[in-house]
Amino acid sequence: MSTTIDLRSDTVTKPTLEMREVMNRAVTGDDVFAEDPEINELQDRCASMFGMEAGLYCPSGTMTNQIAISVHTSKGDEVICDKLSHVYNYEGGGIARLAGASVKLLNGDRGRFTAQDVMDSINPDDSHYANTSLVCLEDTCNKGGGAVWDLSQIKSVSVVSRENGLGVHLDGARVWNSLVARGIHNNLKATKEYGSHFDSISLCLSKGLGCPVGSVLIGSKEFIANAHRTRKVFGGGMRQAGIIAAAGIYALDYHIDRLAEDHVKAKRLGEAALNHPCVKSYSSIDTNIVILHLEEGVDSQELVDSWGDKGVLCFPFSKSSIRFVTHHDVTDAQVDIAAQLICEK
Ligand SMILES: Cc1ncc(COP(=O)(O)O)c(C=O)c1O
Repeated sequence: MSTTIDLRSDTVTKPTLEMREVMNRAVTGDDVFAEDPEINELQDRCASMFGMEAGLYCPSGTMTNQIAISVHTSKGDEVICDKLSHVYNYEGGGIARLAGASVKLLNGDRGRFTAQDVMDSINPDDSHYANTSLVCLEDTCNKGGGAVWDLSQIKSVSVVSRENGLGVHLDGARVWNSLVARGIHNNLKATKEYGSHFDSISLCLSKGLGCPVGSVLIGSKEFIANAHRTRKVFGGGMRQAGIIAAAGIYALDYHIDRLAEDHVKAKRLGEAALNHPCVKSYSSIDTNIVILHLEEGVDSQELVDSWGDKGVLCFPFSKSSIRFVTHHDVTDAQVDIAAQLICEK
């Protein structure tokens, strides 16, 4: 097989030529002294897009999430999040290790839970219990197959959380996929309204937006001042990182609209995969992630290996499911080829 079509994750993208050119031209300064103009612009643009006061550029989404959790909580507190959430499953136990907090897991629908779920999970104000102080949402939810939250559900979760004195953090690693799926990514009023339901949002530039690295944490001025200190403690303060932040500014200008194409490609892949005798169904495809559910007795790793031999790369998501993710570096033609190859005998 001569070419490989890499559908394992939207993190595999390479910076485009245009992106590399803006990186080359980037003006830099020492960001630990808040003197890097590219980083300052990127932080301000991300914050104002969601109606927040300030932003903080960090190396990764894991760092922005874990900084947020550490700032919102005190040692021994409890964090409410879904059982599928990235902050719980895939960040190395950071909630316990870094924030010193425990977790109450919710059994939501593809990562999405209700205000009632939150109410039922808040511990009583009694010294026997951990102090519940934070709710984390994830939109889109990765392990939920790129599931988009219903806006009214976000609103009611946020209202109930705030009424009970809890912080509300969004893991928005793929929030632009969510905004594009809702059709509000170019509507500043709507994105600010969306942002108003959260106290902090972690935004990833290295997923669908195609940057080589970087995430931005946004929130109030006071929250970001605390986050700045925590970033220092986590070793995340960077110096002339405007070189990479410039890629982020470029991506905000040129790589958000095109996410809609990834969503169409994901639907085409899901439909095509249904023609394979081992594929029983797929989870509703809201954005750029496709979860295939396999027929009884089919081993996901074996199927992934057989597709890999043909040059189509994807992930076994569980013993009986497989994940495909579409992204900037997969063309329409490659989606057609992949669709053909995965169904070929
Ligand atoms: C939903 C979600 N949150 C956070 C992260 C963490 O991002 P990073 O890999 O930059 O640490 C990821 C990474 O895939 C993710 O999918």
